[in-house]
This record gives sequence, C-alpha cells and structure tokens, in this order.
Amino acid sequence: HQERDLEGFSILITAGPTIEDIDPVRYLTNRSSGKMGYALAEQAARRGARVTLISGPTHLKPVPGARMVYVRSTEQMLHAVSEFFPEADAFISAAAPADFRPARALDHKWKKSQGPLKLDLVETPDILLAASRAKRPGQVVVGFAAETDMPVEHARRKLVDKGLDLIVVNDVTKPGAGFEVDTNQVTLIGKDGSAEALPVMEKHRVADHILTRVRQVLRV
Ligand code: PMT
Repeated sequence: HQERDLEGFSILITAGPTIEDIDPVRYLTNRSSGKMGYALAEQAARRGARVTLISGPTHLKPVPGARMVYVRSTEQMLHAVSEFFPEADAFISAAAPADFRPARALDHKWKKSQGPLKLDLVETPDILLAASRAKRPGQVVVGFAAETDMPVEHARRKLVDKGLDLIVVNDVTKPGAGFEVDTNQVTLIGKDGSAEALPVMEKHRVADHILTRVRQVLRV
C-alpha cells in the first residue's frame, strides 16, 4: 500500500540486546529478541529504503536487502552507530542496549570456592543521546522507551532529554507488548507532545506506523 515511499532514503536501525561480560563464561543481558528492530528493517527495506541494521546477538535471520552489522556490547553498538549515523537520513533506536556493565570483566572463570561473586556495575554509554547530539539539520532521530509504569510520562521526559523527533513507548509489562512476542502495543509521541495510542498489532504493522511517521518528517 505505501509502495516504495522510502526510496532514496537511508535508514539506520538498531535491534536486539547487548551483552556485557562478567567473566569468560558469564554475562549480563536482557530479554530483547530483536523482533521489533528486525521488523522495522524488513518494512523499511520493503518500502525502498537503504537499510543498515546494527544487531546485538539474536536468533533471527539477516534481513534481505539490509546491510547487517553485528555487535555484542553496548560500546560496540555505540561505535557502529557513530560510524553509520552520519550517512543516515533517519536513525531508529529499537535496540535494548545493556545500561550497566561490570566495572571489570574477569579474565578467569570465578569459582564457587572463591565465595560469593560481587558485581560492581557501571553505566554504559547512551547511544541514542550520542546520536542525537551529533544530529545535523534534516536528520530524524527516533527513540523507543521500554517502561513498566507511567509509560507516557516517562517517555515524554526521554523525548525531551534526548532531543528526539519521535518516541515509541511500550509498556513491557502488558501481555502482547514489548519483549519476545510477535506483537506490540505502542504509543507514538511526537515532538509537539501529541500522543497516538495504537492497539495491539503485529510488530511488522507497528513498524509501518513508525516508518510512516518518519516519512512525514523527512525532507521531501
Ligand atoms: O527486541 P524485542 O524482543 O522485539 O523487544 C522490543 C523492545 C521491547 C526491546 C523494543 O520495543 C524497545 O522498547 N526498545 C528499547 C529498549 C530500551 O532500551 O528502552 P529504554 O527506555 O531503556 O531506552 C530508551 C532509548 O534509549 C531506546 O531507544 C534505547 O534503544 C536507547 N538506549 C538505551 C540505553 C543505552 N545505553 N543506549 C541507548 O541508546
């Protein structure tokens, strides 16, 4: 229906979780499957965009027609986004990068005989904020917000704090929404503060709604 309305545009998307090593056998990560970001990449490619998909570790197949860039840690995802953002017309940050990492990754496996393992966690870089700060006129930056309470309020704050054009908020405690499932239920919050609440639908259809909003903001 939308035909190839994204032809001529370059869209950068991140998907999936990132992984932060504790020791050579253990790590920290989160529940992201990558489905939301891959659905965005698939629909964007279908609609004619040149797509770069930066993916954390997932079980999903590469997206046909997209340039695939695989990363593991939040730091690596930051580097990949910094490399590809300058050439992108739009950046959609659907990934769930680990927000914390062990202050030091151990180079040997921690043994139970050594006693309880205490983890000192430090913050990882905020990729979306870095992109938004590097944004040049005409570039569109879209964030997600994964919330467990007062989703719209928290998302509005993220939109303002990170200088975004659009934020896609999902309440990840709701059935049929958020992590792992094939569907999502989101509210799209624009720069003007407007909130468009969508019903539960397939992630591919959510992706189409987001891409249509992106298309409206992009230069003609
Ligand atoms: O992958 P699925 O299983 O399909 O699940 C989809 C999803 C729930 C992961 C997705 O819909 C979603 O909400 N993605 C954002 C997850 C997240 O990290 O939300 P946040 O509210 O913690 O972060 C806000 C924004 O900052 C997000 O756009 C995120 O990509 C970005 N971020 C977060 C942390 C960080 N260190 N760098 C970032 O750029």
